[in-house]
Amino acid sequence: MTIAPESRPTLPLTVGPHYARGKRAAATCRYKCADACAHPAPNLSANEYFRDVASKALSRRVMLGGMAAAAAVVVAGAEVVGAQPATAAGKPGKPGKGLAFGAIQPQPMAIDDLVVPEGYEWSPIIRWGDPILPGGRAFDAAAQTPEKQAKQFGYNCDYLDILPDDPKHITSMVETRRGTRGLLVANHEYTNPGIMFDGSYDAATRRAIERAAHGMSIVEVTRRKEGTPWTYERIASRNRRVHMDTEFVIDGPAAGHELMRTVEDPTGTRVRGTLNNCAGGTTPWGTVLSGEENFHGYLRVNGADPRDARYGLRDAATRYGWENDDPRFDGNNPGYENENHRFGWMVELDPYDPDAAPVKHTAMGRFKHEGANVILAKNKQVVAYMGDDERFDYVYKFVSKHAMRPGNSAEARAFNKTLLSEGDLYVARFEGNSAGEIDGSGALPSDGAFDGTGEWLPLVLDGESQVDGMSLAEVLVFTRLAADAVGATKMDRPEDVEPNPFTGRVYVACTNNSDRGTGTNAPADEANPRGSNRHGHIVEMIEDGGDQTATTFTWNLLIVCGDPEVDDTAYFSGFPADKVSPISCPDNVAFDTDGNLWISTDGQPSSIQKCDGLFKVTLDGRQRGRVEQFLSVPRSAETCGPLVDVRDSMAYVNVQHPGDDGSFAAQTSYFPDYLAEGEEVPAGAWRGPRPSTVQVFPAGAGEKPGKGGKHSGPGPFPPGRGGRGKGSKNHASFLPEPGEQFRS
Ligand code: FEO
Ligand code: CA
Ligand code: CA
Ligand code: CA
Repeated sequence: MTIAPESRPTLPLTVGPHYARGKRAAATCRYKCADACAHPAPNLSANEYFRDVASKALSRRVMLGGMAAAAAVVVAGAEVVGAQPATAAGKPGKPGKGLAFGAIQPQPMAIDDLVVPEGYEWSPIIRWGDPILPGGRAFDAAAQTPEKQAKQFGYNCDYLDILPDDPKHITSMVETRRGTRGLLVANHEYTNPGIMFDGSYDAATRRAIERAAHGMSIVEVTRRKEGTPWTYERIASRNRRVHMDTEFVIDGPAAGHELMRTVEDPTGTRVRGTLNNCAGGTTPWGTVLSGEENFHGYLRVNGADPRDARYGLRDAATRYGWENDDPRFDGNNPGYENENHRFGWMVELDPYDPDAAPVKHTAMGRFKHEGANVILAKNKQVVAYMGDDERFDYVYKFVSKHAMRPGNSAEARAFNKTLLSEGDLYVARFEGNSAGEIDGSGALPSDGAFDGTGEWLPLVLDGESQVDGMSLAEVLVFTRLAADAVGATKMDRPEDVEPNPFTGRVYVACTNNSDRGTGTNAPADEANPRGSNRHGHIVEMIEDGGDQTATTFTWNLLIVCGDPEVDDTAYFSGFPADKVSPISCPDNVAFDTDGNLWISTDGQPSSIQKCDGLFKVTLDGRQRGRVEQFLSVPRSAETCGPLVDVRDSMAYVNVQHPGDDGSFAAQTSYFPDYLAEGEEVPAGAWRGPRPSTVQVFPAGAGEKPGKGGKHSGPGPFPPGRGGRGKGSKNHASFLPEPGEQFRS
């Protein structure tokens, strides 16, 4: 057995505060996705179904019907978006009065602050390093150990939900009454050693801490009453950490197959750990789905199987260097050739059963899973929509063989937890109806819309492969190659794909694809209509007959993202482009109980030079396409896991990778523990960013009745230490120097 030689510097402190091409801080690219954009897109397949590449003669921007009216009101010089009055029902920031707000101003990318609308406040519920299990010590960045980290909240939280204390209170996909006791579930995508550790840690210890900081966290939360902020429970029976040493069950048709076996697991049914967990979804039976995304950044392969390259896997030292600690991370070690096949799956975890092993579902295919979101078909079959986040990769749908049993009794839940183990798997093909008019310029075609029809191409039906030359197990383990073979449509990095629980319409966040139409890469098509797409777009899919199990659909682009002030290809379903918040790089989507779409972004600093944020999008009526920014996250952070509870007048986000452009010696973010003006840094205090789960609530909702006082807030955060902030309608004049530690 050979172990790859140490090939990395002790500490990668040289990641400077510069922004990589196309997206974000260099450290984010390095650790989050193994510099995926610096390599050619791995989809070299020739499955070109679109033939509607246009001639340059059609590059004019055509406006028809409603679009003409929209164009007429465009004025030179966009208005400031910051101080719009709240227009939804109710007053801004009043508990129980809905989630009315005036859109905030977009924040310049150097701002290290979390900005919320006037009338709202925010506080962290839990931060990286907060202890959640017995023996987990208070966070101390100077004395961190793998054992402590395994009992503390992990790093870089992405997916987020707060489930009710009892799964019986999950009454529908539309509304969840969270009450005053809940289960907060988050996953932890990746680590950035350059800002987490000083030079005192030896490389092996640091890497072990990083493995313990990956995975998932489940933590009980409580609050005084609905509509008030939550506090996490330091010790609670359901608190749990899942990390790289947690045992998972592999289930479904590929479980046990030769392709899944290693010397450590000759059965091919058990695997330790989960990697690079990105977005996710919550099922109506109260489990959480979490996507294993850029797993190629952690696993070295031996180069013998050309299929590995389709996943970006290489025979080269990884950035994380875990192959130096555990032979399973290097496929050159005999017996571990297949370890990489055991990552890249959808994970299902039951937060109500701390003893239940989480499951990797092979029936849902193996790719760079952004996440999965489920909806029930009329016949109660479970339909899961999924994106494969890579340039020129695909949108997938899984349809369970069996129907869900209602009620969430223990018996029903035990059965429902098997629903994702068996079913049909499809991949999407989109066809435009304006063939010949799409030239990559982003100009609307003459029918006034980017739209068309589509088909779900079967990969697996009734437990059998539908792909010539590939067995069932091969289709599931090498799903990207199966989808290539049937002619799926190459998309601009499909991230969250989520059905609207009210309408069944499905929304696909295509985050960006700067390679679209360049060199020998696939040209623009009507579903991905811009060449060198820096800003991304949102696809709306409507299953034929309103049946989620249908194999055909229609689609249109709801939003073509960008800053309309400087980019006339930005398009908002005809809503006036001078009346929206600029938006770029959509990543996660969610729905509120009023049926609005919420979009969180990842990448605005490098595309429109603004901090990332959370945006409300109206879907129906005359306001369809209206985009209003609700919050802005701190410097270099992405906005993740949005959760919006209109009834409680509250919203929640995970703030991932704040200050990723800094180094340990020169941090660029102090989120969330900002100091008040003039406040001294406490002796020995950590002064760097801590990825955190944040709650936004009406101003004053955190104060205890009869006590008043603005520092009687929630959580384990001492009064006056910051860690919470008030809303503002205009922060645009606040421009701290890099490393500035005081907030306005
Ligand atoms: Fe982890 Fe697709 O972003
Ligand atoms: Ca069209
Ligand atoms: Ca993401
Ligand atoms: Ca989502």
